[in-house]
Amino acid sequence: MKAAVLVRHGSPDKAFEIREQAMPTTEAHQICIQVEAFGLNFADVMARRGLYEDAPPMPAVIGYDVIGHVHEVGSDVNDFQVGQKVIALTRFGAYAEYVATDARGVVAVPEDTDAGEGVALATQYGTAWYCSQVVTNLYEGEHVLIQAAAGGVGTALVQLAKHRGCIVYGTASTQKLDYLREMGVDYPIDYRTTSFDAEIRKLRGEAGLDVVFDSIGGASVKKGYKLLGSGGRLIAYGAADMTTGGRKSIFKMIKVALGFGVHSPIGFLQSSRGLIGVNMLRIADDRPDTLKRCMEGVVDYYKKGILKPKVGGAFTIDQLAEAHDLLESRKSIGKVVVSW
Ligand SMILES: NC(=O)c1ccc[n+]([C@@H]2O[C@H](COP(=O)([O-])OP(=O)(O)OC[C@H]3O[C@@H](n4cnc5c(N)ncnc54)[C@H](OP(=O)(O)O)[C@@H]3O)[C@@H](O)[C@H]2O)c1
Repeated sequence: MKAAVLVRHGSPDKAFEIREQAMPTTEAHQICIQVEAFGLNFADVMARRGLYEDAPPMPAVIGYDVIGHVHEVGSDVNDFQVGQKVIALTRFGAYAEYVATDARGVVAVPEDTDAGEGVALATQYGTAWYCSQVVTNLYEGEHVLIQAAAGGVGTALVQLAKHRGCIVYGTASTQKLDYLREMGVDYPIDYRTTSFDAEIRKLRGEAGLDVVFDSIGGASVKKGYKLLGSGGRLIAYGAADMTTGGRKSIFKMIKVALGFGVHSPIGFLQSSRGLIGVNMLRIADDRPDTLKRCMEGVVDYYKKGILKPKVGGAFTIDQLAEAHDLLESRKSIGKVVVSW
Protein backbone atom coordinates (compact mmCIF):
# COMPACT_ATOMS: atom_id res chain seq x y z
CA MET A 1 0.00 0.00 0.00
CA LYS A 2 0.99 3.64 -0.42
CA ALA A 3 1.42 6.15 2.39
CA ALA A 4 2.39 9.81 2.59
CA VAL A 5 5.37 9.62 4.93
CA LEU A 6 6.66 12.58 6.96
CA VAL A 7 10.40 12.41 6.28
CA ARG A 8 11.62 15.86 7.37
CA HIS A 9 10.37 18.89 9.26
CA GLY A 10 9.75 22.07 7.31
CA SER A 11 7.87 23.19 4.23
CA PRO A 12 5.12 20.82 3.04
CA ASP A 13 6.55 20.29 -0.47
CA LYS A 14 9.72 18.77 1.05
CA ALA A 15 8.30 17.20 4.20
CA PHE A 16 6.30 14.30 2.68
CA GLU A 17 7.21 11.42 0.35
CA ILE A 18 4.73 8.92 -1.10
CA ARG A 19 6.25 5.52 -0.27
CA GLU A 20 5.29 1.84 -0.55
CA GLN A 21 4.70 0.47 2.95
CA ALA A 22 3.78 -2.94 4.37
CA MET A 23 0.06 -3.43 5.00
CA PRO A 24 -0.83 -2.87 8.68
CA THR A 25 -1.63 -5.96 10.74
CA THR A 26 -5.05 -5.96 12.35
CA GLU A 27 -4.87 -6.75 16.06
CA ALA A 28 -7.73 -8.42 17.92
CA HIS A 29 -9.28 -5.13 19.12
CA GLN A 30 -8.77 -3.32 15.83
CA ILE A 31 -10.41 -2.68 12.48
CA CYS A 32 -8.43 -2.22 9.28
CA ILE A 33 -9.94 0.45 7.02
CA GLN A 34 -9.37 0.97 3.31
CA VAL A 35 -9.04 4.75 3.26
CA GLU A 36 -11.06 6.79 0.78
CA ALA A 37 -9.92 10.12 2.25
CA PHE A 38 -8.13 11.50 5.29
CA GLY A 39 -8.58 14.82 7.04
CA LEU A 40 -6.03 17.43 8.00
CA ASN A 41 -5.87 18.71 11.56
CA PHE A 42 -3.86 21.62 12.87
CA ALA A 43 -1.81 19.08 14.86
CA ASP A 44 -0.51 17.78 11.48
CA VAL A 45 0.89 21.23 10.70
CA MET A 46 2.53 21.30 14.13
CA ALA A 47 3.94 17.76 13.60
CA ARG A 48 5.33 18.78 10.21
CA ARG A 49 6.93 21.83 11.80
CA GLY A 50 8.46 19.71 14.60
CA LEU A 51 6.30 21.41 17.24
CA TYR A 52 4.12 18.47 18.25
CA GLU A 53 5.53 16.51 21.18
CA ASP A 54 3.18 13.53 20.77
CA ALA A 55 4.02 12.96 17.09
CA PRO A 56 5.79 9.64 16.30
CA PRO A 57 9.50 9.80 15.33
CA MET A 58 10.28 10.21 11.62
CA PRO A 59 9.86 8.62 9.17
CA ALA A 60 6.25 8.68 10.32
CA VAL A 61 2.75 8.35 8.93
CA ILE A 62 0.76 11.04 10.73
CA GLY A 63 -2.94 11.87 10.52
CA TYR A 64 -5.89 11.52 12.84
CA ASP A 65 -9.01 10.90 10.81
CA VAL A 66 -10.21 8.82 7.88
CA ILE A 67 -13.34 7.82 6.02
CA GLY A 68 -13.41 4.54 4.12
CA HIS A 69 -14.63 0.94 4.14
CA VAL A 70 -13.89 -1.84 6.60
CA HIS A 71 -11.22 -4.08 5.08
CA GLU A 72 -10.61 -6.47 7.98
CA VAL A 73 -12.13 -6.95 11.46
CA GLY A 74 -10.07 -8.04 14.50
CA SER A 75 -11.05 -11.29 16.26
CA ASP A 76 -12.46 -9.53 19.37
CA VAL A 77 -14.58 -7.04 17.41
CA ASN A 78 -18.21 -8.03 16.91
CA ASP A 79 -20.09 -4.96 15.75
CA PHE A 80 -18.57 -4.28 12.29
CA GLN A 81 -18.62 -6.08 8.95
CA VAL A 82 -16.19 -6.02 6.03
CA GLY A 83 -17.35 -3.49 3.42
CA GLN A 84 -19.18 -1.19 5.87
CA LYS A 85 -18.60 2.56 5.43
CA VAL A 86 -16.97 4.07 8.53
CA ILE A 87 -15.19 7.10 9.93
CA ALA A 88 -12.38 6.75 12.46
CA LEU A 89 -10.16 8.72 14.79
CA THR A 90 -6.89 6.89 14.18
CA ARG A 91 -4.20 8.40 16.48
CA PHE A 92 -1.72 8.70 13.56
CA GLY A 93 -1.38 6.43 10.50
CA ALA A 94 -4.21 8.16 8.58
CA TYR A 95 -2.12 9.44 5.63
CA ALA A 96 -2.17 5.93 4.08
CA GLU A 97 -4.29 3.73 1.84
CA TYR A 98 -4.99 1.38 4.77
CA VAL A 99 -4.96 1.96 8.51
CA ALA A 100 -5.63 -0.40 11.44
CA THR A 101 -7.09 1.27 14.51
CA ASP A 102 -8.88 0.57 17.81
CA ALA A 103 -12.51 -0.30 17.01
CA ARG A 104 -13.69 2.06 19.78
CA GLY A 105 -12.56 4.99 17.63
CA VAL A 106 -14.61 3.79 14.64
CA VAL A 107 -18.27 4.58 13.86
CA ALA A 108 -20.42 3.39 10.95
CA VAL A 109 -21.82 6.14 8.71
CA PRO A 110 -24.31 6.10 5.82
CA GLU A 111 -22.81 4.94 2.48
CA ASP A 112 -23.50 8.34 0.88
CA THR A 113 -21.61 10.35 3.55
CA ASP A 114 -19.50 13.06 1.93
CA ALA A 115 -15.77 12.38 2.46
CA GLY A 116 -14.97 15.88 3.78
CA GLU A 117 -17.94 15.96 6.12
CA GLY A 118 -17.13 12.45 7.36
CA VAL A 119 -13.52 13.17 8.28
CA ALA A 120 -14.54 16.42 10.01
CA LEU A 121 -16.85 14.41 12.27
CA ALA A 122 -14.07 12.23 13.66
CA THR A 123 -11.38 14.40 15.31
CA GLN A 124 -12.74 17.95 15.09
CA TYR A 125 -16.38 17.25 15.97
CA GLY A 126 -15.31 14.51 18.41
CA THR A 127 -13.08 17.04 20.19
CA ALA A 128 -15.81 19.69 20.18
CA TRP A 129 -18.30 17.18 21.59
CA TYR A 130 -15.92 16.14 24.37
CA CYS A 131 -15.18 19.80 25.24
CA SER A 132 -18.79 21.03 25.16
CA GLN A 133 -20.87 18.05 26.33
CA VAL A 134 -18.52 16.04 28.56
CA VAL A 135 -15.88 18.33 30.10
CA THR A 136 -18.36 21.17 30.45
CA ASN A 137 -22.07 20.97 29.92
CA LEU A 138 -23.42 23.97 28.01
CA TYR A 139 -26.80 25.33 29.11
CA GLU A 140 -29.36 27.45 27.30
CA GLY A 141 -28.64 31.17 27.66
CA GLU A 142 -24.98 30.77 28.62
CA HIS A 143 -22.52 33.29 27.17
CA VAL A 144 -19.79 31.37 25.37
CA LEU A 145 -16.57 32.56 23.71
CA ILE A 146 -15.15 30.34 20.95
CA GLN A 147 -11.65 31.27 19.75
CA ALA A 148 -10.74 30.49 16.09
CA ALA A 149 -14.46 29.90 15.57
CA ALA A 150 -14.23 29.52 11.77
CA GLY A 151 -11.81 26.59 11.94
CA GLY A 152 -12.61 22.88 12.05
CA VAL A 153 -13.11 22.46 15.80
CA GLY A 154 -14.39 26.05 16.00
CA THR A 155 -17.20 25.38 13.49
CA ALA A 156 -18.21 22.27 15.43
CA LEU A 157 -18.24 24.18 18.75
CA VAL A 158 -20.37 26.96 17.26
CA GLN A 159 -22.93 24.45 15.94
CA LEU A 160 -23.08 22.59 19.27
CA ALA A 161 -23.33 25.79 21.33
CA LYS A 162 -26.06 27.26 19.11
CA HIS A 163 -27.98 23.98 19.28
CA ARG A 164 -27.87 24.27 23.09
CA GLY A 165 -29.27 27.82 22.88
CA CYS A 166 -26.08 29.63 23.96
CA ILE A 167 -25.14 33.22 23.10
CA VAL A 168 -21.95 32.84 21.08
CA TYR A 169 -18.98 35.22 20.79
CA GLY A 170 -16.69 33.94 18.02
CA THR A 171 -13.24 35.20 17.05
CA ALA A 172 -11.63 34.84 13.62
CA SER A 173 -9.51 36.63 11.03
CA THR A 174 -11.19 39.47 9.12
CA GLN A 175 -12.17 37.53 5.97
CA LYS A 176 -13.99 34.85 7.98
CA LEU A 177 -16.45 37.07 9.85
CA ASP A 178 -19.22 36.66 7.24
CA TYR A 179 -18.94 32.90 7.68
CA LEU A 180 -19.38 33.33 11.45
CA ARG A 181 -22.52 35.42 10.84
CA GLU A 182 -23.88 32.74 8.46
CA MET A 183 -23.40 30.16 11.21
CA GLY A 184 -25.40 32.29 13.64
CA VAL A 185 -22.54 33.56 15.82
CA ASP A 186 -24.15 36.39 17.81
CA TYR A 187 -20.99 38.49 18.22
CA PRO A 188 -18.31 37.85 15.53
CA ILE A 189 -15.03 39.48 16.64
CA ASP A 190 -12.04 40.20 14.41
CA TYR A 191 -9.20 39.41 16.81
CA ARG A 192 -6.56 40.39 14.30
CA THR A 193 -7.63 44.05 14.32
CA THR A 194 -9.32 44.45 17.70
CA SER A 195 -8.67 43.27 21.21
CA PHE A 196 -11.18 40.48 21.85
CA ASP A 197 -11.16 40.92 25.63
CA ALA A 198 -11.86 44.67 25.41
CA GLU A 199 -14.72 43.96 22.95
CA ILE A 200 -16.28 41.37 25.25
CA ARG A 201 -15.91 43.59 28.32
CA LYS A 202 -17.81 46.30 26.46
CA LEU A 203 -20.58 43.82 25.63
CA ARG A 204 -20.81 41.94 28.94
CA GLY A 205 -19.55 44.38 31.55
CA GLU A 206 -19.11 42.82 35.01
CA ALA A 207 -21.32 39.81 34.26
CA GLY A 208 -18.57 38.12 32.27
CA LEU A 209 -18.71 34.87 30.31
CA ASP A 210 -19.86 31.40 31.33
CA VAL A 211 -17.55 29.37 29.10
CA VAL A 212 -14.42 30.02 27.00
CA PHE A 213 -13.07 27.49 24.47
CA ASP A 214 -9.44 28.36 23.74
CA SER A 215 -7.26 26.76 21.04
CA ILE A 216 -4.75 29.60 20.79
CA GLY A 217 -2.89 29.16 24.08
CA GLY A 218 -0.52 31.53 25.88
CA ALA A 219 -1.81 35.03 26.67
CA SER A 220 -5.15 34.22 25.05
CA VAL A 221 -5.87 31.81 27.95
CA LYS A 222 -4.88 34.38 30.57
CA LYS A 223 -7.15 37.01 28.96
CA GLY A 224 -10.00 34.53 28.46
CA TYR A 225 -9.85 33.39 32.08
CA LYS A 226 -10.16 36.99 33.28
CA LEU A 227 -13.38 37.32 31.24
CA LEU A 228 -15.11 34.51 33.14
CA GLY A 229 -17.86 35.36 35.62
CA SER A 230 -18.67 33.27 38.69
CA GLY A 231 -19.27 29.65 37.73
CA GLY A 232 -17.23 30.16 34.56
CA ARG A 233 -15.12 27.44 32.92
CA LEU A 234 -12.25 27.80 30.47
CA ILE A 235 -11.42 24.82 28.27
CA ALA A 236 -7.84 25.00 26.96
CA TYR A 237 -7.37 22.57 24.07
CA GLY A 238 -4.69 24.01 21.79
CA ALA A 239 -1.63 26.20 21.38
CA ALA A 240 -1.86 27.51 17.80
CA ASP A 241 0.11 30.56 18.93
CA MET A 242 3.16 28.30 19.17
CA THR A 243 3.32 28.27 15.35
CA THR A 244 3.33 32.06 14.92
CA GLY A 245 6.50 33.56 13.51
CA GLY A 246 8.19 30.92 11.39
CA ARG A 247 10.70 28.41 12.69
CA LYS A 248 10.62 26.45 15.93
CA SER A 249 12.04 28.66 18.65
CA ILE A 250 12.63 27.79 22.28
CA PHE A 251 12.07 31.47 23.20
CA LYS A 252 8.69 31.45 21.49
CA MET A 253 7.74 28.24 23.33
CA ILE A 254 8.75 29.72 26.69
CA LYS A 255 6.87 32.96 25.90
CA VAL A 256 3.68 31.05 25.04
CA ALA A 257 4.05 28.78 28.11
CA LEU A 258 4.50 31.77 30.45
CA GLY A 259 1.66 33.59 28.69
CA PHE A 260 -0.89 31.08 30.05
CA GLY A 261 -0.40 32.73 33.45
CA VAL A 262 -0.19 31.18 36.90
CA HIS A 263 -3.42 29.61 38.10
CA SER A 264 -4.00 28.37 41.61
CA PRO A 265 -6.64 25.96 42.95
CA ILE A 266 -7.29 28.42 45.79
CA GLY A 267 -8.12 31.08 43.18
CA PHE A 268 -10.46 28.60 41.44
CA LEU A 269 -12.18 27.91 44.76
CA GLN A 270 -12.54 31.53 45.83
CA SER A 271 -13.87 32.77 42.49
CA SER A 272 -15.76 29.55 41.62
CA ARG A 273 -14.15 29.38 38.22
CA GLY A 274 -12.17 26.61 36.57
CA LEU A 275 -9.63 25.84 33.88
CA ILE A 276 -9.64 22.42 32.19
CA GLY A 277 -7.13 21.02 29.71
CA VAL A 278 -8.11 18.67 26.90
CA ASN A 279 -5.89 16.31 24.90
CA MET A 280 -7.93 13.91 22.76
CA LEU A 281 -4.92 11.67 22.20
CA ARG A 282 -4.88 10.92 25.95
CA ILE A 283 -8.66 10.31 25.85
CA ALA A 284 -8.33 8.04 22.78
CA ASP A 285 -5.49 6.04 24.35
CA ASP A 286 -6.65 5.88 27.97
CA ARG A 287 -10.45 6.38 27.81
CA PRO A 288 -11.46 4.77 24.48
CA ASP A 289 -15.04 4.21 25.66
CA THR A 290 -15.38 7.97 26.28
CA LEU A 291 -14.11 8.60 22.75
CA LYS A 292 -16.65 6.11 21.40
CA ARG A 293 -19.51 7.89 23.18
CA CYS A 294 -18.35 11.25 21.75
CA MET A 295 -18.11 9.93 18.20
CA GLU A 296 -21.46 8.15 18.40
CA GLY A 297 -23.04 11.37 19.72
CA VAL A 298 -21.59 13.35 16.84
CA VAL A 299 -22.73 10.87 14.17
CA ASP A 300 -26.22 10.73 15.70
CA TYR A 301 -26.53 14.55 15.52
CA TYR A 302 -25.10 14.51 11.97
CA LYS A 303 -27.71 11.99 10.81
CA LYS A 304 -30.45 14.13 12.40
CA GLY A 305 -29.18 17.21 10.54
CA ILE A 306 -28.24 19.08 13.76
CA LEU A 307 -24.55 19.15 12.80
CA LYS A 308 -23.38 20.09 9.31
CA PRO A 309 -19.59 20.17 8.82
CA LYS A 310 -18.17 22.80 6.49
CA VAL A 311 -15.62 21.52 3.99
CA GLY A 312 -13.20 24.36 3.29
CA GLY A 313 -10.80 22.58 0.94
CA ALA A 314 -10.79 19.25 -0.95
CA PHE A 315 -7.52 17.96 -2.43
CA THR A 316 -6.10 14.79 -3.99
CA ILE A 317 -3.02 13.02 -2.60
CA ASP A 318 -0.67 14.66 -5.12
CA GLN A 319 -1.87 18.04 -3.73
CA LEU A 320 -1.01 17.21 -0.11
CA ALA A 321 1.49 20.09 0.12
CA GLU A 322 -1.16 22.57 -1.08
CA ALA A 323 -3.61 21.21 1.48
CA HIS A 324 -1.03 21.75 4.27
CA ASP A 325 -0.27 25.23 2.92
CA LEU A 326 -3.94 26.16 3.05
CA LEU A 327 -4.37 25.03 6.67
CA GLU A 328 -1.14 26.66 7.82
CA SER A 329 -1.88 29.95 6.00
CA ARG A 330 -4.90 30.62 8.26
CA LYS A 331 -7.02 30.99 5.11
CA SER A 332 -8.99 27.77 5.60
CA ILE A 333 -12.54 27.65 6.88
CA GLY A 334 -13.87 24.37 8.30
CA LYS A 335 -12.29 21.06 7.28
CA VAL A 336 -9.50 20.32 4.80
CA VAL A 337 -9.70 16.83 3.24
CA VAL A 338 -7.34 14.79 1.03
CA SER A 339 -8.56 11.88 -1.13
CA TRP A 340 -6.55 8.93 -2.47
N1 LIG B 1 -6.45 19.14 22.38
C1 LIG B 1 -6.88 18.36 21.44
O1 LIG B 1 -7.07 17.16 21.62
C2 LIG B 1 -7.17 18.95 20.10
C3 LIG B 1 -7.89 18.23 19.14
C4 LIG B 1 -8.16 18.85 17.91
C5 LIG B 1 -7.69 20.14 17.68
N2 LIG B 1 -6.98 20.77 18.63
C6 LIG B 1 -6.50 22.15 18.44
O2 LIG B 1 -7.60 22.92 18.06
C7 LIG B 1 -7.20 23.95 17.20
C8 LIG B 1 -8.05 23.90 15.94
O3 LIG B 1 -7.70 22.74 15.20
P1 LIG B 1 -8.29 22.53 13.75
O4 LIG B 1 -7.67 21.28 13.23
O5 LIG B 1 -9.76 22.65 13.79
O6 LIG B 1 -7.64 23.75 12.94
P2 LIG B 1 -8.38 25.04 12.35
O7 LIG B 1 -9.08 25.74 13.47
O8 LIG B 1 -9.18 24.64 11.17
O9 LIG B 1 -7.15 25.89 11.84
C9 LIG B 1 -6.43 26.68 12.72
C10 LIG B 1 -7.04 28.10 12.81
O10 LIG B 1 -6.57 28.67 14.03
C11 LIG B 1 -6.56 30.06 13.87
N3 LIG B 1 -5.33 30.59 14.46
C12 LIG B 1 -5.28 31.40 15.52
N4 LIG B 1 -4.04 31.69 15.84
C13 LIG B 1 -3.26 31.05 14.96
C14 LIG B 1 -1.86 31.00 14.76
N5 LIG B 1 -1.02 31.65 15.57
N6 LIG B 1 -1.38 30.25 13.75
C15 LIG B 1 -2.24 29.60 12.94
N7 LIG B 1 -3.58 29.60 13.08
C16 LIG B 1 -4.08 30.34 14.09
C17 LIG B 1 -6.67 30.37 12.37
O11 LIG B 1 -7.95 30.94 12.14
P3 LIG B 1 -8.09 32.55 12.14
O12 LIG B 1 -7.25 33.03 11.01
O13 LIG B 1 -9.53 32.81 11.99
O14 LIG B 1 -7.53 32.98 13.46
C18 LIG B 1 -6.57 29.01 11.71
O15 LIG B 1 -7.34 28.92 10.53
C19 LIG B 1 -5.70 23.76 16.98
O16 LIG B 1 -5.00 24.60 17.88
C20 LIG B 1 -5.48 22.32 17.32
O17 LIG B 1 -4.17 22.04 17.70
C21 LIG B 1 -6.71 20.21 19.83
